Amino acid sequence: MHEARYAMQQPALERLLLDEGRPKPSATMTALPRAAPAPLLSFGSLAMLSYRHAFHAGNHADVLKHSVVVQLLRHLGQKDKSYWYIDTHAGAGVYSLTEGYAAKTAEFETGIARLWSRTDLPSMLADYVDEIRALNPDGTLQFYPGSPYLAWRMLREQDRMRLFELHTTEIDVLRHNFRDAGRRAMIYEGDGFDGIKALLPPPPRRGLVLVDPSYEDKRDYARTLNCIEESLKRFATGTYAVWYPQVTRLESQRFPDQLKRLQPKNWLQVALTVSTHPADGFGLFGSGMFIFNPPYTLAGALKDALPYLVKTLGQDGKAAFKLEHRGD
Ligand SMILES: C[S@@+](CC[C@H](N)C(=O)[O-])C[C@H]1O[C@@H](n2cnc3c(N)ncnc32)[C@H](O)[C@@H]1O
Repeated sequence: MHEARYAMQQPALERLLLDEGRPKPSATMTALPRAAPAPLLSFGSLAMLSYRHAFHAGNHADVLKHSVVVQLLRHLGQKDKSYWYIDTHAGAGVYSLTEGYAAKTAEFETGIARLWSRTDLPSMLADYVDEIRALNPDGTLQFYPGSPYLAWRMLREQDRMRLFELHTTEIDVLRHNFRDAGRRAMIYEGDGFDGIKALLPPPPRRGLVLVDPSYEDKRDYARTLNCIEESLKRFATGTYAVWYPQVTRLESQRFPDQLKRLQPKNWLQVALTVSTHPADGFGLFGSGMFIFNPPYTLAGALKDALPYLVKTLGQDGKAAFKLEHRGD
C-alpha cells in the first residue's frame, strides 16, 4: 500500500521547483494553483524576513528534527483513523544540495551526508534515511526534503496537511512544489503562529503540529510559547513538536524550561549538541526538540539513536545529548 503511493508520487519529483535561491517563479512558469484560500493575514512588520532554510538544509539540526518528525508521523499512521499534519513554518518544501544556497554553505556535509552511506544506523535513523533515499532514488545525495515534503510522503489518502509560510519567495516555491497535491495539502501564505488558531482542533481530533521558526527574530521564543499555550487549550490531545536552536542568547537557554511549564506532564525534550559554544557568541552549536504528548515509543527510539548521533555528527569533545521525559 505504502509502496504504491510512493510510486505514484515519484514522477512528480521531476517537476519540483527546488529552493535553490532561484528568483521567484515567473509568469512563464506553470501557473501555481491557488491551493489555499486567501491569505489569512498579511504580517507587514515581518515583510523583511531574510531567513532562507536552504542555507541549512540537511544540517545536524535538520537531522534531529526530521528524524523525530518521521517517528511522530509513523506513530500517527499506525491507526487507520485519519490525522492532520500542520506545519506553522513550512519553508520551501524541498531543497537541492548540489546547487544554490545549500551547496554554497554545504551544511548538509556535517549532517545528512554523514549518515547517508552508513549501514549500521539505529532503527529511528534508518527510518529517516530511508525517506531521504526515496527522494534520491539513484543513490546519490542530491535532494533534501523539508518537513512538508517529508510529511507529504508519509501521509495516507485519509490524512491532511496544512502549511503556513510567510516569506514571499519561499511561499511561491512551496506552492509550486505542491501544485499537484490537490486539497489534501492546503498552503497558507501568512503567519503560522496566528493562522493555526483557526485550524484547531482538526476535524479528526488527531494530529501533529510542527512549530519550527528560525528564531532569528527573538520574539519567536515568546510567540512559540504563546502559540503552544493557546493551541493546547484548543486541542489538548494533539502532538506538538517545537524545534529550538542551541545558541548563546539568553532566550534560547531558558526556553526549554519555559516550555516545560506549559504542561506539567506528558512531554519529551531532546537536545543534540554538536560542538562547544562558539567563542564569538554567534552560531548554532546544537538544537533541541520539545514534544508535547509524544508517543510512548519515542523515548526508547531516541535512546538508541542519540549516542550514535553524538558519535557521527559531533564536531568536538563537547558533543553530547540530553533526553528527558515526563509521562502521563
Ligand atoms: C526553519 S524554516 C522552516 C523549515 C521547515 N519546517 C523544515 O523543517 O523543512 C522557518 C520558515 O518559517 C518562515 N517564517 C518565518 N516567520 C514565519 C511566521 N510567522 N509564519 C510562517 N512562516 C514564517 C521562514 O520564512 C522560513 O521559511
